[in-house]
Amino acid sequence: MNNVEASSSSGKAQIGVTGLAVMGSNIARNFARHGYTVALHNRSIAKTDALIANHGDEGNFIRTETIAEFVAALERPRRVLIMVKAGAPTDAVIEELADAMEPGDIIIDGGNSLYTDTIRREAAMSARGLNFVGAGISGGEEGALNGPAIMPGGPAESYESLGPMLESIAAQVDGEPCCTHIGPDGSGHFVKMVHNGIEYADMQLIGEAYDLMRKALDLPVAEIADVFREWNTTELESYLIEITAEVLSQVDAETGKPLVDVIVDAAGQKGTGRWTVKSALDLGIPTTGIAEAVFARALSSSTDQRLAARGLKAGALGEAPADKARFIEDIKAALYASKVVAYAQGFDQIAAGSAEYGWDVDRGALATIWRGGCIIRAQFLNRIREAYADDPALPSLLLAPYFRDAVEAGIDSWRRVVSTATLLGIPVPAFASSLSYYDALRAERLPAALTQGLRDYFGAHTYQRVDKEGTFHTLWSGDRSEVAE
Ligand code: 6PG
Repeated sequence: MNNVEASSSSGKAQIGVTGLAVMGSNIARNFARHGYTVALHNRSIAKTDALIANHGDEGNFIRTETIAEFVAALERPRRVLIMVKAGAPTDAVIEELADAMEPGDIIIDGGNSLYTDTIRREAAMSARGLNFVGAGISGGEEGALNGPAIMPGGPAESYESLGPMLESIAAQVDGEPCCTHIGPDGSGHFVKMVHNGIEYADMQLIGEAYDLMRKALDLPVAEIADVFREWNTTELESYLIEITAEVLSQVDAETGKPLVDVIVDAAGQKGTGRWTVKSALDLGIPTTGIAEAVFARALSSSTDQRLAARGLKAGALGEAPADKARFIEDIKAALYASKVVAYAQGFDQIAAGSAEYGWDVDRGALATIWRGGCIIRAQFLNRIREAYADDPALPSLLLAPYFRDAVEAGIDSWRRVVSTATLLGIPVPAFASSLSYYDALRAERLPAALTQGLRDYFGAHTYQRVDKEGTFHTLWSGDRSEVAE
């Protein structure tokens, strides 16, 4: 294996990073702190100089101004990590680099690129003899510096030279790096996209849990922060729960109010959640939790419409739960069960994407690298890893014995939460749709039979029967007898 030793003896850099905004500079610093010589490049030299001025003592950096200088500073095969905005800016940098690089060199796109762009770019670069690696990188600014989760796709040969470097800068959990080769071409960015979709669902569920404690139980924000802090010592332990306690504890210096009360309640989105849902629609996978989360952000941002609708009547509302402590436990169970649904759906989408594109993604390995570094890191991912280790072909995470037991144990709570929220007029789109998904999945019969009947009535779309093979049509506008097609 072509392992790359840290600390170059040639005086050349083992890796180059172009695009030195916060994520790019932090990754560059992370490489340098691990003993690699890092060539730096940015469109405007000011960012390169700032990095060297502020952090130059952290390791070996080579300052370059032009792409030609940058490429010349790298040992062969050259490895360049692009950390620029996804879309057209990434294409522009790739083109410029490809013109200056030679066959066998490796271009890594570490941005949040759309996986279909990665598939296109990988084909174009491989036609020129270059290796192109689309790598999902998660963990935000802090992760980039101290250890992100890295999801590299692209040719397996590139991973031989690149993998050890990426693994050394990635987060480590129980001695294992949060980085593994995901599969060919767009697979790395695909799984990063679904990661972000799950991140959306996780955040929406946390938001609904918070909203319920606030509106159904009238708990002060500081107490809700304590509940999340306590939950973070249980099976819900995760980065997002941890930072929820932090955000809810923050008091606005100007007004003395909880910060959350002075933040405008319109959620932004850069697009990865929406991409996940579009892909789910194309693959025919019901990732309802993620879809509800994306739509909830959209609704929150429909400011004018929300303002106009504010006076709409709620109707007769139910009673708030009398036993607050019990209802908090119910919310916790509902959160956990809905979270299992969101992950189950996300992993189904990964299996479907993998089958569609022939990537052979190992879902257990993915759960393993998501245990640290990334935004959705959670204790719970150990259980997902175990579930796929026990049965790599698991039809749904909900059927893994551990998750099945956990969800079944919380089902009564889950129903109480969804029904109480509905009776109190508190929106819980992700809790409710996750519960409906669960009920639909376990149902013996679904009303899809009626849908088929209706389709046959108005469009002669035919149907199958439960009691015999074949395709059938009822002569609805004739004598209503059935004919075999
Ligand atoms: C990560 C994050 C990161 C980023 C998303 C959030 O894994 O480190 O997911 O990629 O925070 O872009 O995107 P939204 O702006 O769409 O919430």
